[in-house]
Amino acid sequence: MLDSADFSLLGSTDPALNRVLSSIASICADIKDRIAGAAHVGELGLAGQDNVQGEAQKALDVIANDLFVESLLAHPDVAGLASEEMDDALWAEHDGGELLVVFDPLDGSSNIDVNVSVGSIFSILRVPANSTHDAAAFLQRGRDQLAAGYAVYGPATQLVLSTGSGTVGFSWHTGQQKFAPVTSQYRLSQAANEYAINASNQRYWDAPIQQYIADCNLGETGPRGKNFNMRWVASMVAEIHRILTRGGVFLYPHDSRMPEGHGKLRLLYEANPMAMLIEQAGGDSSTGIQKIMDIEPTALHQRVPVITGACEEVTKVESMYRQGS
Ligand code: AHG
Ligand code: MN
Ligand code: MN
Repeated sequence: MLDSADFSLLGSTDPALNRVLSSIASICADIKDRIAGAAHVGELGLAGQDNVQGEAQKALDVIANDLFVESLLAHPDVAGLASEEMDDALWAEHDGGELLVVFDPLDGSSNIDVNVSVGSIFSILRVPANSTHDAAAFLQRGRDQLAAGYAVYGPATQLVLSTGSGTVGFSWHTGQQKFAPVTSQYRLSQAANEYAINASNQRYWDAPIQQYIADCNLGETGPRGKNFNMRWVASMVAEIHRILTRGGVFLYPHDSRMPEGHGKLRLLYEANPMAMLIEQAGGDSSTGIQKIMDIEPTALHQRVPVITGACEEVTKVESMYRQGS
């Protein structure tokens, strides 16, 4: 599904990693087809159960998760898997796999029934030395990711990957039945004039976030001296894809309904892979207080605040947290 020219573009020379990335590309192609056909076979709507996070699973959350698990658990290079949709990690029955895959099989699934872009997000880690095959093996900092990526199922299905040598974009080519490269290296502008935040949560935000967004909204007559536009798709993949393509900053901050230090998005399979893709394109990612990829994870489904995108904006938010507003 991905070939040697694609891996050269990615700068990836690890054969096991390349084989797993290739399998993930095939899984994403299958998910794309299941989404496209879902309305005709009764696969939209709820699955009738909640996941470990207490969220009502959509039928397609479960289908996408099953496609990842079926393919990767049998993959000779994979030792274990963890997913947003599964309480615990799964371990392969075969020996010899050296890689772990952690994923959000369907991101933005509230958008499924209204035919708005959704995606899959994934991160690949190495099995730590002396691992006893428990959840602790997955609790690695974002800096230790071997690869990160997402597929966005939009007007086109695109796959965006990094193995640590830049961020590369592929688009599904129907004629060739494969992902073909379209963006050899994303480069993110340091400055931004577009932000993404769910403004309906404004009354719950920390003071620095309130101030940051208020300043943006004052436009060229305010302290920022320029106008900002706003977008909110409610699919992180779609927001990050827009930011990689035309710049901007994405915020899902801590708010007063959450325990101290928490956010909505999950560290291991949302924040970390996106942080790697953004950093490899020249951007930055932070909780406001700490760089996302420096966080030492403590739990598989840990949630963190996320501010990611253009460096100038991430730095601005961090400085506002340091000042207390
Ligand atoms: P998921 O569908 O995997 O649970 O993730 C949804 C996430 C993310 O994609 C998006 O940015 C955010 O939730 C939207 O949250 P709101 O509904 O609070 O706007
Ligand atoms: Mn998600
Ligand atoms: Mn999801």
